[in-house]
Amino acid sequence: MISSFQHLSLSVPDVAAGRDFYRDFGMQPVDRGDSVAMRCVGRDQDQVVLFEGPRREVHHRTYGVLPGTLADTRRGLERAGVELLDAPVQHGGEGVWLRDPHGYVVHLTERADAGSAGDARIAWNTPGHFERLGDRGCPTPQLPTRPRRLGHIIVFSPDPDALARFYIEHLGMRLSDRVGDGFAVFLRTQGDSDHHVLGLLRNPQRGLHHASFEVGSLDEMQLGMLRMQDAGHRHAWGLGRHVVGSNYFQYFRDPYGSMAEYFVDIDHIPADQDWEARDWGKDGMFLWSVDGPPPEDFAHNYYADEG
Ligand SMILES: [Fe+2]
Repeated sequence: MISSFQHLSLSVPDVAAGRDFYRDFGMQPVDRGDSVAMRCVGRDQDQVVLFEGPRREVHHRTYGVLPGTLADTRRGLERAGVELLDAPVQHGGEGVWLRDPHGYVVHLTERADAGSAGDARIAWNTPGHFERLGDRGCPTPQLPTRPRRLGHIIVFSPDPDALARFYIEHLGMRLSDRVGDGFAVFLRTQGDSDHHVLGLLRNPQRGLHHASFEVGSLDEMQLGMLRMQDAGHRHAWGLGRHVVGSNYFQYFRDPYGSMAEYFVDIDHIPADQDWEARDWGKDGMFLWSVDGPPPEDFAHNYYADEG
């Protein structure tokens, strides 16, 4: 029963380009010879691992399961006839490896998640609530943009509803919301969870749409945006606010045609909350963005463009 998202592995034709991109994005590379792991500063956990490969594809994703549930989860998958794979030695040789109905490789592990270190509370002055008294609120231009954790990814699927059912029935994920009558489906984990940890977006082919990282504040997000643009990376969309998940967003195209997102202030749902999943029609995507609706190619699957 999935309780955390640990890391995403991509197979890509140019590892160095992704290493540069994510370093400029605020992350730290760990070079391992056959791969580069990008980590959040001060957090001892891989987040995006890049392997050299002939074409860009989602290599696998690693999720933590609730302690003591791995064996039961494996038995449930076997009973359901799900394809289980040998645990690859190069990836630690442990845990349960499976192929989901749309061909994505998923790794389940009981290894502990690094968790979230947490920052000092941000004091905001709002009408009638002056939480920051006698202190200047504006940071210096040197405020670093530091992704704190990989919060979620969105991947493409020809049938998001069907794939969501698989993750709900067999891996314990929970439905948070749908957009566009099943065009996109948003799932969270067991336990207290961000509104979405996995999103599924309709497209005939597999591929990564985006990976999303929590940053500490709107200032970090916007200063990061300016630095990414200065470094020559392509801004994709934002600053804006999503409806589904509520987070503020900034998107950039990575070297592979997928995107990396900074997020701030995502909805967080307690485990025992009776959360009502809704279908938001076309209105779930965003409330506003300073650059208007998403760009034409926002939902394009660049991973499907090459053979
Ligand atoms: Fe996102």
